[in-house]
Amino acid sequence: MTESIASMVELARRALANAYAPYSRFRVGACVRAESDRLYAGCNVENAAYPITQCAEATAIGALVAGGDRRILEVVILTEGTEPCAPCGRCRQQLAEFARPDARIHLCGPEGVRATTTLGELLPLAFGPDTLGRPGT
Ligand code: THU
Repeated sequence: MTESIASMVELARRALANAYAPYSRFRVGACVRAESDRLYAGCNVENAAYPITQCAEATAIGALVAGGDRRILEVVILTEGTEPCAPCGRCRQQLAEFARPDARIHLCGPEGVRATTTLGELLPLAFGPDTLGRPGT
């Protein structure tokens, strides 16, 4: 594991520890690395009105935007089960707003990286800012 990925895993682990998941009991931590090299972490935030739940990736993306960054180069998603956990469809679309298809997505457990893929593999033929001439950037 490179030092950069190890730092991302550690931030995702800390965020996961703060996850608010009293309904699913499924805690998720995420960390995104911006083009500026800054790291932003997030956790899932559930709600008694279940559909309002916010995924960990969305929390991290929100922190990145609030921090003044726009481009995501790398993502860590950390869960506690035994299998690598890939991002849900909504998160893939949200990542596509700020990440290119070659952005690496590391699926991690508390011990480290379990699998690495790319956004392009997870969301082929994506509808995104490029479809609209990239007006968001
Ligand atoms: N969850 C995430 O945080 N990210 C994903 O990509 C998939 C699902 C959360 C939402 C909910 O709090 C819990 O995992 C169970 O679905």
